[in-house]
Amino acid sequence: MIVGADRFAVTEATVLTIGGAKGGAGKTVTAINVASALRSAGFSVALVDADLGTTNVADVLGLEIETSIHEVLAGEADTEEAIVTTDTGLDVLSGGDSIAYLTEADPAELRTVIDALSPEYDTVIVDTGTGLSHEVLVPFGLADGVALVSTPDDTSIVDTRKTAEVVEKVDGTLLGVVVNRVTDETDLDRVREQIELPLLELLPNDPGASKIEPVVMEASDTDLAEAYRQLATTLHRQTSSDE
Ligand SMILES: Nc1ncnc2c1ncn2[C@@H]1O[C@H](COP(=O)(O)OP(=O)(O)O)[C@@H](O)[C@H]1O
Ligand SMILES: [Mg+2]
Repeated sequence: MIVGADRFAVTEATVLTIGGAKGGAGKTVTAINVASALRSAGFSVALVDADLGTTNVADVLGLEIETSIHEVLAGEADTEEAIVTTDTGLDVLSGGDSIAYLTEADPAELRTVIDALSPEYDTVIVDTGTGLSHEVLVPFGLADGVALVSTPDDTSIVDTRKTAEVVEKVDGTLLGVVVNRVTDETDLDRVREQIELPLLELLPNDPGASKIEPVVMEASDTDLAEAYRQLATTLHRQTSSDE
């Protein structure tokens, strides 16, 4: 072994995929807030919007997209050209309003995108779409950990368990489930019993706080922001290599 060779070793980002069975469960806002919480904690973070059909991370964060993730996945632009940095230092790769390259974007190329980002960041967070299409399965398979977001209702939980099985099928590493939009009426015992998967965090329903994203920056003293921070800590702890 060459002494000191590890000084030149390229470190790889931890890749976390945020998935879920149902549209509107809160995948995108969870991805945004986990990314923002890790960024606030001092990590370099890239947030990738892999919900290619209905990409909306840029929209939620109010970002102008000149080069979209679709253009990158179509082989028409490099990953770094498409990165937009938010004023809180989060690097985002997203689609914009344009539908250009939407049909040419190849989900299999997400692997190339993650490989390009990996040496540059501590953490890469991947937001995904709904369903079990190829563009969802690729980020399940390539992540160091997958967290599934579910609402507390029965159908969402049943679908989340099915999605968890699919994560295993594509050799993904399921970390557990985030139960979102929890209220005083939520029967948590029933949720725990039904879910049969590790519960990563309970996120309170807070329509007020979730008006301006990221909640961890814009409404940092709310219970919802605190729950996102806890979730970010849990996900980081479960996927860091020094565990
Ligand atoms: N904990 C919460 N409290 C209140 N509203 C929420 C919460 N989480 C998500 N929402 C709202 O629900 C909607 C859907 O969230 P989104 O993250 O876009 O879902 P998905 O990406 O799973 O389709 C958004 O309007 C978002 O602001
Ligand atoms: Mg979404």
